[in-house]
Amino acid sequence: MKKKWWKEAVGYQIYPRSFKDSNNDGIGDLNGIREKLPYLKKLGIDFIWLNPVYQSPNVDNGYDISDYQAIMADFGTMADFDLLLAEAHKLGIKLIMDLVVNHSSDQHEWFKESKASKDNPYRDYYIWKDGIQGEPPSDWQAIFGGSVWEYDEKTEQYYFHAFAKEQPDFNWENEQLKERLFSMIRWWLDKGIDGFRVDAISHIRKDAHHLPALLENVPGRYQNIPGIEHYLEELKQVFEEYDIMTVGEASGVKAVEAEQWAGDDGYFNMIFEFEHIGLWKQEQEKNFDIKAFKKALSNWQYALDGKGWNALYMENHDVPRSVSVFGNDSEEYREISAKALAMMYFFLQGTPFIYQGQELGMTNMPFESIEEINTLDSKQLYRELQDAGKSEETALATVNAITRDNSRTPMQWSNDQYAGFSNTEPWLRMNPNKQTINVEAALADSDSVFYFYQKLIRLRKQHSALVYGSFEEILPEHEQLYVYTRRNEEAVFLVLVNLSEQPASYQIPKHMKQLSEKAQLVLSNYQAAQDLPLTDTLAPFEARTYQIDMGN
Ligand code: GLC
Ligand code: CA
Repeated sequence: MKKKWWKEAVGYQIYPRSFKDSNNDGIGDLNGIREKLPYLKKLGIDFIWLNPVYQSPNVDNGYDISDYQAIMADFGTMADFDLLLAEAHKLGIKLIMDLVVNHSSDQHEWFKESKASKDNPYRDYYIWKDGIQGEPPSDWQAIFGGSVWEYDEKTEQYYFHAFAKEQPDFNWENEQLKERLFSMIRWWLDKGIDGFRVDAISHIRKDAHHLPALLENVPGRYQNIPGIEHYLEELKQVFEEYDIMTVGEASGVKAVEAEQWAGDDGYFNMIFEFEHIGLWKQEQEKNFDIKAFKKALSNWQYALDGKGWNALYMENHDVPRSVSVFGNDSEEYREISAKALAMMYFFLQGTPFIYQGQELGMTNMPFESIEEINTLDSKQLYRELQDAGKSEETALATVNAITRDNSRTPMQWSNDQYAGFSNTEPWLRMNPNKQTINVEAALADSDSVFYFYQKLIRLRKQHSALVYGSFEEILPEHEQLYVYTRRNEEAVFLVLVNLSEQPASYQIPKHMKQLSEKAQLVLSNYQAAQDLPLTDTLAPFEARTYQIDMGN
């Protein structure tokens, strides 16, 4: 397998609004991030993925960009950015940016021009269509709810938006638009950033130009549809002018297509797939389908083993906290299950990403009213639930369970009034559990989730088998345990994780008996014996990794 720096690296995702506020206006910023670089260094990560920091009216917190080559005033200045990049590099930390090229803000100059008249030279940068008999061109639904079509009175046409109406989609069929986007990409890469996380990229092609006659609600008409490969190839060629890493956000891409997207010759170095993360149960259902979860992860492992590379993640700014969803955030199990989930995904084949606060075992947020929630899609959902006759209480409970704001509450640095994030009321309510869950407490406790992550990172750096080794799932039919090996000529690692709240027994399969005799425990979240028993019972959320040396 080809060696690459980004295969050996561990990433850390920063949601700038909520990481650290340096000037006490309640909003996290670039200087705040710079201040905390030593903390990230201590954790041991190699690169940062920064959520969008570009100029934006913030309808979707920076994912609606009005100027791609300017920094949002809330976050600081371009000089602050340059300083952050330089200082990160000095510490040996690389930095990748979020690249949002499926859509812009409706406040972007290009869209303002596009809207101005039908014959404006920018008209075709976006997707405009006539209505049909006074109705929108189709009844496709937007990802954030409502129609994908927004009517413009002035020019009497509809424009397309996959997300909010303030996020008009670009028309990737327009050559000039593409060239403008590509030169913007080069501008950032020439600055010396180390790559991109590419937002919503499976949506860039729409079927809109092959519209069926009238209304027809077919899902997926603007997600990973044929023809997208041409655009992705062009984008890839721009990336290949540089020595960088790229990770695509690829909803709707299935494991059978893994190689095309993230193979050695794929569009991206790796992608965020949605199959495993999509399994968290919406709407308060408590049952986590462990077998389906294992299968989703293993499918991606096998699809790319020796052929490409995975991006590994359990959290990001769009999903609730993993310990609350897949683990158990009660006092008894929070830290244990946070560690179990950590070990479970960290030793798979791929580049692990940690989302800010995940390394503390931060939990979901008990929002007490809809006013406390910021994200537009949750507000929309709340309205829809109320329209459907649900009580305020029920609507809030549903929103609470799934809102993206669960993971966007400010980072908990200490037990100060505003958790050391800021000296003033932050833009989003602080989780009250900052009292016990915070960086200061974690650093003072040698058994904390933080130090467990630090150990995982160190182990991964010490053993090439944990980076490049091949993957094999053991006991795939087990209902509670995820068991797999990573193997190369130097060593075999056996990872055993109980994903359930009940004790779980195993029996080492025959073909592994000989190996297991030489196994030595290297890390666990409980007290476990050094040797690997051929049969044993793991406690709730118990996780163990054993090493078997292959040398002589
Ligand atoms: C991606 C981002 C999400 C954003 C959306 C629209 O899914 O991760 O936060 O709202 O794209 O840009
Ligand atoms: Ca600030």
